[in-house]
Amino acid sequence: MLTKAGKLGGVALEEHVKNLVPEIKQLTLFPSELCNYRCNFCHIWGDTGWALKEPQRAIREQLDIDVLKKFLDDVTAVNKNLGVIITGGEPMLYKHFTELVEHLRKRKANIYLLTNGSLIKNRVEFIMQNIVAMNISIDGPEEFHDAIRGKGSFQKICENIEALMEEKKRRKKMFPFINITMVLSPSNYLSIKQFMSALRERFKDADVVLHDPRNPWSRRRDLSVNLAPLLFTTPERGRAYAAQMKHDLDCEVSPAWQGFVEDSIPMDTQLLKKELEELWAMEGIDSSHYIDIHDYYTDIENVFGRSKCVAPWHEMIIRRTGDVYPCVDLPDFKYGNIYEDSFADMWEGERATQFRDYLKNTNLMMCNRCTRMFADPESF
Ligand SMILES: C[S@@+](CC[C@H](N)C(=O)[O-])C[C@H]1O[C@@H](n2cnc3c(N)ncnc32)[C@H](O)[C@@H]1O
Ligand code: SF4
Repeated sequence: MLTKAGKLGGVALEEHVKNLVPEIKQLTLFPSELCNYRCNFCHIWGDTGWALKEPQRAIREQLDIDVLKKFLDDVTAVNKNLGVIITGGEPMLYKHFTELVEHLRKRKANIYLLTNGSLIKNRVEFIMQNIVAMNISIDGPEEFHDAIRGKGSFQKICENIEALMEEKKRRKKMFPFINITMVLSPSNYLSIKQFMSALRERFKDADVVLHDPRNPWSRRRDLSVNLAPLLFTTPERGRAYAAQMKHDLDCEVSPAWQGFVEDSIPMDTQLLKKELEELWAMEGIDSSHYIDIHDYYTDIENVFGRSKCVAPWHEMIIRRTGDVYPCVDLPDFKYGNIYEDSFADMWEGERATQFRDYLKNTNLMMCNRCTRMFADPESF
């Protein structure tokens, strides 16, 4: 669940942002954007996603591993404890996935994998040795999940998780942490209580715990479950974002923002709020630091006390083309390209400075429902 994001807010947060000094802490890699699923709500491959509008030949492009390795050497030389999120599409479809992960481990990076969980089976051993945390998507109990992600996929993913948990147990290992993420969309939002019971039924011997970001280690867990609201925008805000980028930053945006546009979201959000409150009470979770889910879906102006984004001071995003951006889901304001530009030139370059200076005083029209607005500025 998204939180109100830390102690800093209002003037204190604005001051914090004004005084920030760039310090790279995290890279997010989309080394390939291919996917073997077509989840209906997905902003990349879903009904309104941008990937189906792109020439499919271009989408099949994958990052050159040697160029990527060289770039990663430069970043890990600056931060010896770098966090690297590998995502996509489905990250395990990247043809150099193994080589990439091995290289990052040699450089002591901590690797977090965002995956649909379908391709784990033959890599259990490898994942055990190299990955700190796995975020695996399951979008509800079997019938709900399969309606979104494809028939048979629930059982397949559960078998893969089981294989991973067995191996962890056999080796008495803590890593990788396994986190299940369910995105709350119109097709599944009323199945949350049933979801927790379905997981406990499916993984009978495991401790399945609803994740509480404020007290993550308060209870022993084998599997933690995170309920994530849909990221979305309105058509008006989306268009205003494109105009803002053009006018203020001379940037022609990609179609990515269109993947988030929802004309309306057919959900009874008061009922969802009630269901969530009941679930938190049943699970013994203090929900006072969570956002109000009804407001989240119905009042897009509201950013829940977090008025500023700090991500561009700490994170960089690399897409399959080698292009580098500050925003995780919006490949729009390009810093450069790893085939041509060095890490230092992009991180400390004019484009990055221009973007950070702009964000000190202004938010982008797409910021309100971006995950980075809910990340704690103090822990980022
Ligand atoms: C884009 S996927 C990539 C990794 C992998 N393919 C997966 O499904 O987990 C990363 C996460 O974004 C979620 N996601 C996709 N579209 C979304 C949207 N519009 N709002 C919120 N989450 C979304 C997915 O469910 C998944 O948890
Ligand atoms: S598996 Fe992930 S990337 Fe693929 S369509 Fe589903 S949410 Fe999107």
